[in-house]
Amino acid sequence: MTSQSITDVTFENILVEIVGSGDRKTGLIRLNRPKQLNALSDPLMDELGRALLAFDADDGIGCIVLTGSERAFAAGADIPTMAPHTFMSAFKSGLISKNWETILQVRKPVIGAVAGFALGGGCELAMMCDFIIAADTARFGQPEIKLGIIPGAGGTQRLPRAVSKSKAMDMLLTARMMDAAEAERAGLVSRVVPADQLMSEALAAAETINGFSGPSTMLIKELVNLAYQGPLTDGVAVERRYFHALFGSDDQREGMDAFLAKRAPSFKHR
Ligand code: HXC
Repeated sequence: MTSQSITDVTFENILVEIVGSGDRKTGLIRLNRPKQLNALSDPLMDELGRALLAFDADDGIGCIVLTGSERAFAAGADIPTMAPHTFMSAFKSGLISKNWETILQVRKPVIGAVAGFALGGGCELAMMCDFIIAADTARFGQPEIKLGIIPGAGGTQRLPRAVSKSKAMDMLLTARMMDAAEAERAGLVSRVVPADQLMSEALAAAETINGFSGPSTMLIKELVNLAYQGPLTDGVAVERRYFHALFGSDDQREGMDAFLAKRAPSFKHR
């Protein structure tokens, strides 16, 4: 499927567009259930997965930005549809497993642009992005304990890796929210910007990434995720092999030739 056709699809729970001016553009996905503060329902997660995979498959897209509204990135999994589940129905239907982790299949960089609430599954979805740019209005939390449950989309695993054991325990056990400044101090987000500059900042970061060699951006993503998820020595060994491999690429030749000739590089993404 091409990005042209994905932007022609009428979605019920997300808005999809392509933005940017360069050779490669940005796929922008907005979560769009405003009355429910973008609560993450099954239909929403199905649509999100479809849009993410379409952008990932589109050679004209270099990077994806995932965002919500001014009030909420997402206030969590959709509580009314989750409430009636039993163990057996959750297990047999593959609750969460079947459509929440599509984002992890995406090989291009995904920037989370977060304003307002990012709670429960919303915080977990933000943490599945490659990095998070936060508005100064952003508030992060894992309040599942207040509902008598625990996080189910990686919150107990990704949060301690992102912010340390102590802060993760504090947030998970007390359900308190973290504001944007604390989230930046703790390393959960890469930068905080005034709310009215969130989208321009996120799209500018995406545009910068779009201008670089696509295979390099994909490899950096893969390798940082390896560092985040696995043992150090394995990560460094794989990094070394890919570093060697890039000396077989046109973009390495172009990038270094351009530097030596004191001109801007023109990457061909191969
Ligand atoms: C469905 C939700 C929702 C949710 C809010 N709403 N969160 N609907 N699922 N997760 C709805 C409210 O019911 C309300 O609808 C409307 O959005 C506005 O919310 P209010 O509560 O009126 O707004 P406010 O007072 O500003 O409070 C905002 C809030 C609060 C702090 C975000 O809504 C809240 O605590 N929401 C629940 C957050 C939460 O527990 N998230 C974790 C969910 S569990 P009406 O129709 O009344 O106007 C989870 C598990 C993940 O995510 C497991 C694996 C993925």
